[in-house]
Amino acid sequence: MRELDGLLRTHNCGELSKANVGQEVILCGWVNKYRDLGGLHFIDIRDKFGLTQLGFEAFKGDLGILKQVSLESVIWAKGKVNERPASALNKKMATGEVEIQVTQLKILSQCNIDKLPFLPTAKVEATEDLKLKYRYLDLRAPKLQKILKIRSEAAQIARNTLVDAGFLEIETPILFKSTPEGARDYIVPSRIHPGKVYALPQSPQTLKQLLMIGGLDKYFQIIKCFRDEDLRADRQPEFTQIDIEASFVTQEYIQNLATKLMASLFKLSDDFSISIMSYQDAMRDYGCDKPDLRYDLKHHILTDLFKDSDFKVFSSVSQEGGLIKGIFIPEEMGTFSRKDTDSLVEVVKPYGGKGVAFFKIENGQLKAGISKFITPDIFKALPEQGNGTWFFAADGEHSVAHACGDALRRHFADILNLKGEGYSFVWINDFPLLEWDRDLKRFMAVHHPFTMPKKEQLDDFLNGDVNDPEGPLKDLLAEAYDVVCNGYEIGGGSLRIFDGKVQDQMFKALGFTPEEAQSQFGFFLEALDYGTPPHGGIAFGFDRIIMILAGTDNIRDTIAFPKTTSASDLMAQTPSSVAGEQIKELHFKWD
Ligand code: AMO
Ligand code: AMP
Repeated sequence: MRELDGLLRTHNCGELSKANVGQEVILCGWVNKYRDLGGLHFIDIRDKFGLTQLGFEAFKGDLGILKQVSLESVIWAKGKVNERPASALNKKMATGEVEIQVTQLKILSQCNIDKLPFLPTAKVEATEDLKLKYRYLDLRAPKLQKILKIRSEAAQIARNTLVDAGFLEIETPILFKSTPEGARDYIVPSRIHPGKVYALPQSPQTLKQLLMIGGLDKYFQIIKCFRDEDLRADRQPEFTQIDIEASFVTQEYIQNLATKLMASLFKLSDDFSISIMSYQDAMRDYGCDKPDLRYDLKHHILTDLFKDSDFKVFSSVSQEGGLIKGIFIPEEMGTFSRKDTDSLVEVVKPYGGKGVAFFKIENGQLKAGISKFITPDIFKALPEQGNGTWFFAADGEHSVAHACGDALRRHFADILNLKGEGYSFVWINDFPLLEWDRDLKRFMAVHHPFTMPKKEQLDDFLNGDVNDPEGPLKDLLAEAYDVVCNGYEIGGGSLRIFDGKVQDQMFKALGFTPEEAQSQFGFFLEALDYGTPPHGGIAFGFDRIIMILAGTDNIRDTIAFPKTTSASDLMAQTPSSVAGEQIKELHFKWD
């Protein structure tokens, strides 16, 4: 693409080649490297496009300037493009066939090298905290430059794909009202309305549904969402969604649209399709609802096998209605030392696991671990009997056994290098609608409160006892779906409730009194009464998609100015205190 006129430079630092030899050019950029080879001086000048070597044999001014200019200073250099002699060609540099013989050099902005916290292009990287404090320096490094370019391109691709499919891009407010997505809200106190607050949206869920009620038919937005929740490697307190909603659609439409969007974002072929797995199968086989399917390592359910075992840990789990999951690693995939097996307990501990039992099979012989408890009957019933190692996660709580089995599976994939290249997409369907919270003694929405129960279960939902954890509500399924790629949940959505009666029952099931539902969602509940099209949608975690595209496992790499896992910005030192006057204006008091 040709640049517009009006730049300080004629070319960028990554584009000159033999074709430009003889031209007079001007480059601007940062001093990446300076060398003085016995009177022959060279600077590598850098910008986001690349590096170019500057030589000074034709320099008209005082060469003393080269001693003044420090690394990372910003310079302006004018000179002629020369072909490099064969001995000086640099194949590693895109511009390595040429150099600029500089005639004029200006220092536009000197870098205070004595204070510079780190060199952004240094081989030894600074600590992550230091890089976050000086994020603008880290942004100069090629890694982040590359990722932000991927991010910008992906946003354009998403826009084009959705606009082509007939979607309108519509903005929704950031100063709004609580939207229940399962996290805490970020709250903004109002100056004009003492004691009242706005909430930043956890997602624009109610707003996009109101757009459908407003007849907009197909909406999308690339929008910031705010959630005050425990952060992890793939979670930020403010993150970006590609948010989508459409009217008069089925799950099939949303899944077709999402497949098209993924194919364009991940540059996949036209025949790309995404397989579908039920939530129940995902939990059974992988112990989680976002399995990484780049590798197999399925779980085996072995609870019944150990019912009468002499290994008391397992027989009691089995008899108490718990769950025993096994993973078999064939010998050719990996073998394990004592140290390896001893350390596995640390893998499951964070998930409430108490241990990881194992035994080895060597040519029909059972060895090590709990081998003495593996009777011939148990052995015969095992689904894998070849050379290899069996591992087990057992717990009275099914959720703990699942989570430990999942952690083990991911651990083995890491240490045995099973992930390989490429993308593995899967839809997870048929999520439960509700789950009982034992502490709060009420149901919680597994997706969110606007998700439609399965059509064939609607009567059970409407007539079920909302206070009975064992009643019909516990087994209901939702018209909800997640899309998973390489073990990340990259999107989730559902068909929505569009009947006020069903929505009222949902709020009741979630423990809202009619008054509470009215005060929090009255505007929305009323809207359902005035003609609501059946509608549904999905939201993609844009930052997570960029993580996968860029091959990083750290969400912070995908965001220009990210926050730490304790939700602070180390550069701007925020959150920060506010002046007394400002607090007074906002009418709230600190204790
Ligand atoms: P959900 O809560 O599943 O659905 O969010 C959609 C997607 O957003 C991403 N995501 C996050 N990414 C980074 N940091 C976070 N803290 C974070 N939280 C979520 C995930 C997730 O799949 N309104 C519904 C969507 C709908 O029903 O249409 C919603 O927000 O990739
Ligand atoms: P113990 O009899 O407690 O020494 O345990 C024997 C083996 O069983 C050890 O390898 C433990 O790590 C393992 N183990 C203990 N509890 C569990 C559990 N809940 N699930 C799987 N293995 C376990």
